Amino acid sequence: MADLIAEEKINQIRQAIDIVEIIGDYVQLKKQGRNYFGLCPFHGENTPSFSVSPDKQIFHCFGCGAGGNVFSFLMELEGISFQETAIRLAEKAQIDLQINPTQFSKQKSISKELQAMYDAHELLRKFYHHLLVNTKDGQHALEYLLNRGFTRDSIDKFQVGYSLNSWDFIYKFLLKRDFQPEWMEKAGLVIKRERDGTFFDRFRDRIMFPIFDRNGKTIAFSGRALGADEPKYLNSPETAIFNKSKILYNFHLARPHIRKTQHVILFEGFADVIAADRSGVENGVATMGTSLTDEHISLIRQNVQSITICYDSDKAGVEAAFRAGKHLSEAGCSIKVSLMPDRLDPDEYIKKYGDEKFRIEVIGASLTWMSFKFLYFRREKNLQDEGDRLTYIEEILKEISSLPKAVERDHYLRQLASEFSLSLDALKQQQKQNYFAEKRNSKGQKQAVVMPLSIPKQVNELKPAHYTAEMRLIKHMLKSRDVAYKVQELLHGNTFNIDEHQAIITYLLGFYEDHINPDPSAFLNYIQDDKLRRIVVNIEMMSINEDLSDQELNDYIKQVLNYQKWLKIKEKEMEEKVAEREQDFKKAATIAMEIIQLRKSLKI
Ligand code: CTP
Ligand code: MN
Repeated sequence: MADLIAEEKINQIRQAIDIVEIIGDYVQLKKQGRNYFGLCPFHGENTPSFSVSPDKQIFHCFGCGAGGNVFSFLMELEGISFQETAIRLAEKAQIDLQINPTQFSKQKSISKELQAMYDAHELLRKFYHHLLVNTKDGQHALEYLLNRGFTRDSIDKFQVGYSLNSWDFIYKFLLKRDFQPEWMEKAGLVIKRERDGTFFDRFRDRIMFPIFDRNGKTIAFSGRALGADEPKYLNSPETAIFNKSKILYNFHLARPHIRKTQHVILFEGFADVIAADRSGVENGVATMGTSLTDEHISLIRQNVQSITICYDSDKAGVEAAFRAGKHLSEAGCSIKVSLMPDRLDPDEYIKKYGDEKFRIEVIGASLTWMSFKFLYFRREKNLQDEGDRLTYIEEILKEISSLPKAVERDHYLRQLASEFSLSLDALKQQQKQNYFAEKRNSKGQKQAVVMPLSIPKQVNELKPAHYTAEMRLIKHMLKSRDVAYKVQELLHGNTFNIDEHQAIITYLLGFYEDHINPDPSAFLNYIQDDKLRRIVVNIEMMSINEDLSDQELNDYIKQVLNYQKWLKIKEKEMEEKVAEREQDFKKAATIAMEIIQLRKSLKI
């Protein structure tokens, strides 16, 4: 790293950037005492065990053990290199990195290609939009959209565009602007002909929806056919800058509204998001024709817990809503489902019934997840038929069993009892039986029962004395250079018992050679090893007595050294036994003396 970006610059960035602000862009943080807490973006969880310390400028998750400083946070979450992270943070802090171009050339050639991809998308977004709204060539497309109920405002807001009915207009357009054909192809904007290696435009005569990343950069397009052409939607392929399974359409515009309302609405299509936005529902996002992935859910969960699924109300849409809901509830979301009559999709509903009815009677009247399941399991069943009816009751009972709260279970059991004129007691009994049967069956598998919310794991479960002593010593060494040297002296050439701890203090002493002042965040950059970093962060999060007396320090050292002696004693005791068994009493006596000596030294 130091070869490319001067360490002094890295320090400057670290001082200018506040970790709380950066992480706050990804995780909802709440202040609690000195630290901030939120849901960990690195693993799925329902209770916040992720903490950020503004004093130390580090983060740590008690749940999964992730931890580090602002650099490692971005590197891990965005999957980018240290240099890229530094460049991004420097931009944010308005620090000129003064990167030496010759040193940086290798890096630069990679990012030059990416930059070209971004630039081409940016250029085309503007150009497609211009074609749609200002030109005769795009007039029929504009009319099509206006007919469908799109307004000029939303066409501008979502930067909708039109691609010409031409095989090579875009190819030539980009070529004239010095974009290499290979780059255009890699960006998914043109396609290479097998037979002669020439190129043609991917998108022709389509309504163009630009796809933005979470920072508002255009990274792909989805082109809708104007008529009944197939496919209806043609998407950019996966590229270095576009990964469908990570992208939620409209996320960048919706995010502030999602934060404000603490709620997100999930749609199936672009047209739905845009129509809902027009009707005043601005916290809507959509997947891009794929089912909901873990990455989507993680992106949602970083921002919000409460979600309404508003999919098409045809059969496929209801099935997809059920799958998405299951997936989301496993991730700890609180879910509602909106349904519309006559198998409409949200866009069609809004066109037919208007904005207000959509807001009030669809979004406002959405069902709880359980009520949706009451309806869902009914589909394709004839409840007049006894067999179907019993199957249905069984299915619903199973769902009720999985509810964590007794009041909720009671509520839905009553609902079920009253609908089918069943005895509540009998239902309760059956539900309990199901619950325990399920529990027995699921041993070793995923628990069907949602466990009550758990408190975050204690930072350090009970550990042996020498272990805790080493951690405390490291913590004090991290806080003070003097203490670090003192500990090294007191160890008299001995090492810590835990290998990782020893590795950490070796790094730390190296760090202090050219850093006068302790700096937790800088030290994390200095450590090369991920596992060690996590341990350091874990130690940083421990609370200790601020002042370290000589007495306390010596006690810790004693515990560290005693453990080694104690191991030695155990070893000697074994040897003694062997000697006795072999009737080598002289040897046994010598060993016994050594053991007495060792025991004596323990007491010092
Ligand atoms: N989709 C896709 N490829 C297709 C069809 C659909 O990628 N061939 C994706 C698009 O992201 C689309 C979403 O799936 O927005 C939902 O599909 P559908 O309900 O068929 O489209 P609508 O959003 O209703 O589009 P329109 O109203 O224009 O028909
Ligand atoms: Mn539609």
